[in-house]
Amino acid sequence: MRKIVIANWKMNPSSLKEAEKIVSGIGTGLKNIKKTEVVLCPPSIYLSKIKKTNKKIYFGAQNSFYEDSGAYTGEISIEMLKQFGVKYSIVGHSERRAFGETNKDTNLKIKKLLEFKITAILCIGESVRDEEHKYFDFIKKQIEEALEGINKNSLNKIIIAYEPIWAIGKNALREATAGEFLEMSIFIKKILSDIYGAKNIEDIRIIYGGSVHPENSLPFIIDGKSAGFLVGRDSLEPKKFLEIIKLTENLS
Ligand code: PGA
Repeated sequence: MRKIVIANWKMNPSSLKEAEKIVSGIGTGLKNIKKTEVVLCPPSIYLSKIKKTNKKIYFGAQNSFYEDSGAYTGEISIEMLKQFGVKYSIVGHSERRAFGETNKDTNLKIKKLLEFKITAILCIGESVRDEEHKYFDFIKKQIEEALEGINKNSLNKIIIAYEPIWAIGKNALREATAGEFLEMSIFIKKILSDIYGAKNIEDIRIIYGGSVHPENSLPFIIDGKSAGFLVGRDSLEPKKFLEIIKLTENLS
């Protein structure tokens, strides 16, 4: 299974010039990367301007809307994004969910992305790990509702990013452990196999996100069997982001 490392720049950097610098910094370090997919999700407004310095870099959107056109102030349609070379879109990031994005919204977005043959990066994750382990039910609901009505033939266009909210950002409690990730990805596979059947979910990629740094990424691949990463802060620093990509590549 091809591994993938995705950059989520969030609302950064502040200038187009800086964005171009980061893309070219990442591009120059990808010479020996052959087996790992590299996806950059910049703020959408930069997509039309950023030069693709390397054909190994793919672009993604951080968010997209499920309607084709109309009176939806502030939204960007998937058709619009596609014209700027977008091949992936993050769906249901916890920072979008905090603004009110529901599981139903993630479902509609995934369906629309699939219509346009764009890969959906579905983010799921609990805000706390309660002692009664209710977070497993929470994750199950996020997956079941996001994938409702989605056909097994579309699974190769869906990536699941497990990003516990408590592990995201500079105020994170800590990153998850590789063991916690492995346990969760087994649980996710069980949910998927209950819906689609075990043989149909072999190729679905489950990746980890939340305070990924070069220093902590290795165990997620080796012990956690992660298919890759969704990286926030460190994806804005080419040197660190490239280190994460190289570590992933070397273990592919
Ligand atoms: P972080 O963000 O790597 O800065 O914790 C990850 C994310 O929110 O996707």
